[in-house]
Amino acid sequence: TYVIGADCIDVLDRSCVDVCPVDCIYVGERKSYINASACIDCGACEVECPVSAIVADRVARRDETLNAHLEDSRAFFLDVLPGRDLPLGDPGGAGLTGEIGTDTALVTAHLPKPP
Ligand code: F3S
Repeated sequence: TYVIGADCIDVLDRSCVDVCPVDCIYVGERKSYINASACIDCGACEVECPVSAIVADRVARRDETLNAHLEDSRAFFLDVLPGRDLPLGDPGGAGLTGEIGTDTALVTAHLPKPP
């Protein structure tokens, strides 16, 4: 899979959402998240991201901050909307759910970029 790192926070460009062939990128409030169980590793989003926030998981695992976002993405799909019968994104694509508008604790706690 691929992971969206902290550089997406407060940018939320959404170009990645438009190019993903399996519609597995979900928009939170300040950041987007890739559903690892649906991603087919095409890499289209990595190329499209204007701030180079997206990397392959094998790359992310070598970087402490990116690895934290890899784990955090899992948390997003399992926990961000309590009370759902199924994890977010399983089944169905992001187009079905619409923008989620909520972030994980890790992203919510991220300090805004200085002006
Ligand atoms: Fe979609 Fe990117 Fe995976 S475009 S299929 S999330 S590599």
